Amino acid sequence: MAEASARAHPNIALVKYWGKRDADLVLPVAGSLSLTLDEFPTTTTVRLDPAAVADSFTLGGVAQQGTQLSRVTEFLDVVRELADSDVRAAVTSISEIPTDAGLASSAAGFAALAAAAAAAYGLDLDQRALSRLARRGSGSATRSVIPGLAVWHAGDDEGSFAEAVDGPELRMVTVTLSRTPKAVSSREAMVRTARTSPFFPAWVTSTEETLQEALEACAQGDVERLGHLTELHAHRMHAVIESCDPPIRYLSPTSLEVFDEVARMREAGRRCYATADAGANVVVLTTPEDAEHVAAELSVHGETRVVRPGPGVELISRTESA
Ligand code: DP6
Repeated sequence: MAEASARAHPNIALVKYWGKRDADLVLPVAGSLSLTLDEFPTTTTVRLDPAAVADSFTLGGVAQQGTQLSRVTEFLDVVRELADSDVRAAVTSISEIPTDAGLASSAAGFAALAAAAAAAYGLDLDQRALSRLARRGSGSATRSVIPGLAVWHAGDDEGSFAEAVDGPELRMVTVTLSRTPKAVSSREAMVRTARTSPFFPAWVTSTEETLQEALEACAQGDVERLGHLTELHAHRMHAVIESCDPPIRYLSPTSLEVFDEVARMREAGRRCYATADAGANVVVLTTPEDAEHVAAELSVHGETRVVRPGPGVELISRTESA
């Protein structure tokens, strides 16, 4: 009976992924760019169980049902097809981030699951293949396979994977404002945005342009340019989301206060740029020199943490027992 464990970390997008052109294959409407963090890991074990009639999924000691379980089962179906297997699995996962609070728990979750499941089912995948596989679980997981800065190419099924990008030395400051699950999942909100926002086509073309500019900024080690584009793109994503029918708003009044405070610190000479994913929490892109100051200033709004760039997905163990 094979068993494998893997660990992955969340990533925060500087150029956001928002919208799919193929929901089955999880192909994005545009490329994106992110930084994998070295905090809040998810560790996942996949144990094959030839006697089981269904997969099981335990998260933080709690047996999961409904959407959480079906997403894991659908993902394992992709792995089983690649491995030509029909054996079911018991998946156990421990996450150090609050699920669904806007800190990309599905990115670390599906990156860890992809590596653990691939190893348990005996697939020998290189980094690119693993990134493509993780994509099938959750789009943002494509990038958590990769350490540090990662670009996810939009591409077709073959060409839609993430890879490492060189760039300036960066830090992030996480500002935890909300631990309550978001009202609308990003998966559902993306569909609604694409279907109902009149601004969606402009979002797609401008994202590709922003990505090219951000990659140039990375190549030049230009933190100011990269930071400016990061904050701009966050505003644009939240604007297109708010323009849905019915509208969806993820940012809270406190999130906006943090954005304002970050702008004030920037005027005072600090290099700091705010972003937020599909939730109220804010993450600030900054430099090693400014990180501690930024974290201290923002701690009046919520719990802050200075986070360094982190590793890609790691296989921790693989065992085969009788
Ligand atoms: C706002 O990767 O969670 O964090 O592919 O449907 O699982 P699915 O969506 P998911 O969306 C993440 C959206 C985002 C932006 C980003 O990470 O680029």
